[in-house]
Amino acid sequence: MRDRHEVLIDEARCIGCGLCREDCPAANIVVEQGKAAVISQDCLMCGHRVAICPQAAVTMTGFEEEPRELDAGAPTALDPDRLQQALGARRSIRRFADRPVPDDVFARIVEAGRLTPTAKNEQDVSFVVLRDDIARFEARAVRLFRRVMPFVRLTSSMARRTSIDDRFFFKGAPAVIVVIARGDIDGALAASNMELMAQAHGLGVLYSGFFTMAARLSRGLRRELGLGRKQKVVTALVLGYPAVRYRRTAPKEAAAISWK
Ligand SMILES: Cc1cc2nc3c(=O)[nH]c(=O)nc-3n(C[C@H](O)[C@H](O)[C@H](O)COP(=O)(O)O)c2cc1C
Ligand code: SF4
Repeated sequence: MRDRHEVLIDEARCIGCGLCREDCPAANIVVEQGKAAVISQDCLMCGHRVAICPQAAVTMTGFEEEPRELDAGAPTALDPDRLQQALGARRSIRRFADRPVPDDVFARIVEAGRLTPTAKNEQDVSFVVLRDDIARFEARAVRLFRRVMPFVRLTSSMARRTSIDDRFFFKGAPAVIVVIARGDIDGALAASNMELMAQAHGLGVLYSGFFTMAARLSRGLRRELGLGRKQKVVTALVLGYPAVRYRRTAPKEAAAISWK
């Protein structure tokens, strides 16, 4: 990713304030004779220097998205009470209304994933939306699980109570977003933000660990998802409008926390 980009400093604009040098996490700027200069193009390409420069003197080539000016007065933080209310009220949804998810809502959910930070700024997370072809993917996963379930049932009473019906994985949801990444944490963070955005649009989500497992076990599913050698399925967000309303929050353990 990084070799495609270059950091450039417009000398005519630079006033030598040094903000970019102080803020660069890779110590990759010198300021000499009142002008900033990039030491090496081998860096995180995180964009801090672009974001902080008061003169808009720093640019990075090769990105599809241009930087957007942030209005100093505009709130960028979420309201803590509303966020806590939303986090407390969310539940895994396993019953979905027969109602499609509009394209612009998909776009907003994927955008939430795209904007999530990644380790070393690798931006290694990608998304496969199963919608028109959802039944074919589910049928493949069902076939796989029906083969392995007899063995799982030998040791698990929950598995003995569970039958693998045709809707075992996706519960009749209209769509699934499969989150693919090289790094597990990168994909999981993206998925969490996507779930929040889905919830903000009135959707319900189920993280499907079972489909994730199927996609990791099955070469056929990997191929159909178009996974590269180093890419893995981190999770799958089964989503749609809920056909269920929960009346109260569920009990949870207290936070395991210690202060040192
Ligand atoms: C990573 C992950 C994988 C999960 N996989 C499944 C799954 O395959 N099938 C399922 O019914 N629930 C799955 N769940 C849902 C959990 O069972 C659920 O989050 C937990 O019971 C707490 O309930 P809540 O999400 O409604 O608060 C998964 C949850 C997470 C976080
Ligand atoms: S932040 Fe901008 S103006 Fe200040 S030294 Fe860096 S490039 Fe020059």
